[in-house]
Amino acid sequence: MTYDLLIQNIKELILPVSTERPLKGKDLDELNVVKNGTVVVHEGKIVYAGPYTEDYEARETIDASDRVVSPALVDAHTHLVHGGSREHEMALKRQGKSYLEILESGGGILSTVEATRQATEDELFNKAEYDLLTMIHHGVLAVESKSGYGLNKENELKQLRVSKRLEEKYGLKMRHTFLGPHAIPKEASSQADFLQEMIDLLPEAQKYADFADIFCETGVFTLEESKRYMEAAKALGLRVKIHADEIDPLGGLGLAIEEEAISADHLVASSDKDKANLKDSDTVAVLLPGTTFYLDKESYADARGMLDNNGAIAIATDYNPGSCVTNNLQMVMAIAALKLKLSPAEIWNAVTVNAAKAIDVDAGTINEGDDANIVIWRAPNHEYIPYHYGVNHVEKVIQNGRVIVDRQPGLLTNA
Ligand code: NIG
Ligand code: FE
Repeated sequence: MTYDLLIQNIKELILPVSTERPLKGKDLDELNVVKNGTVVVHEGKIVYAGPYTEDYEARETIDASDRVVSPALVDAHTHLVHGGSREHEMALKRQGKSYLEILESGGGILSTVEATRQATEDELFNKAEYDLLTMIHHGVLAVESKSGYGLNKENELKQLRVSKRLEEKYGLKMRHTFLGPHAIPKEASSQADFLQEMIDLLPEAQKYADFADIFCETGVFTLEESKRYMEAAKALGLRVKIHADEIDPLGGLGLAIEEEAISADHLVASSDKDKANLKDSDTVAVLLPGTTFYLDKESYADARGMLDNNGAIAIATDYNPGSCVTNNLQMVMAIAALKLKLSPAEIWNAVTVNAAKAIDVDAGTINEGDDANIVIWRAPNHEYIPYHYGVNHVEKVIQNGRVIVDRQPGLLTNA
């Protein structure tokens, strides 16, 4: 038989394990790396991925000598759809204003809310589309995308619709998250009323959203409010996520575990007790070290402590216009290596199989039978990608067996 595609002579083939539950603790440090591998694809699926073999014939062969091949990456936490940008906040930061001070004075998230409300649905779509294509160029084919810059019915649903349209247009594996309680809008009569308004919006948001999320933080929503919101979402059958302990230790991680959240995200300031409790839970700790870097904080999430306690962690960008202005997950892999002290194996598992678990998407592995969503990296080994930071090492991105990105250096348009 003749197959569609053969990727041959792969210097290192990265094969995270297929697993029902997220990888925990020491298991993240195990990564199946095949030296001199072969991948065979037919009708968009993986037929074979393993040691070199000449047993297969194909219509098309890609020679991956001196290349790394891996599953396409999964970005499990992004605020992809938003209006405007906040470069003016750089000056405020230079003057010593903190993230929460900027928010308190009506800037920060609230300035993006203004820009998002003003943007038409098509304007939002065009901006998010470009950002999404940049992510794909950087090796990502599964993405979680949150609302949270509308803060009212019309504009929250507008963001969610844009997110859905992107999924349809690019056939990507996307998950959509309703983050109505992301900040308190200026026009809210009270915090309690606004939270109730967002709770009342859940049934409608559910038409588009897979998950409900809330920003549990000083000056935003309390632990009690977060609990109320999560329970209301769960009562409707929505699964929940939480922005927890990003700046202050309010106990959001403990609440996430108690509420069986699919993920708890940030966790920079989480308590030792809550971190230890990760071991008995399938809640994935989604760590966002690009945000800690961008907020210029000294102390990062305690990834090592979470792994020592047998917790499950994933790494994501948190791409947004305020606290983490990069949609390059490779850059965040480098920050995870340096600041979270993760090994290359832990990082690869955290941006593939475990990131997929954090958003319940069938992605992050390229074992037999999986969708053929593959990246060919111009890198001598898998350790190289978190090491050579800030630039794009992708050579090809293959979606369902089809090459959709090909950026071999040297091929300039005018050459
Ligand atoms: O995950 N923390 C809250 N939300 C985003 C930031 C949003 C913004 O600053 O626009 C985050 O960091
Ligand atoms: Fe976020």
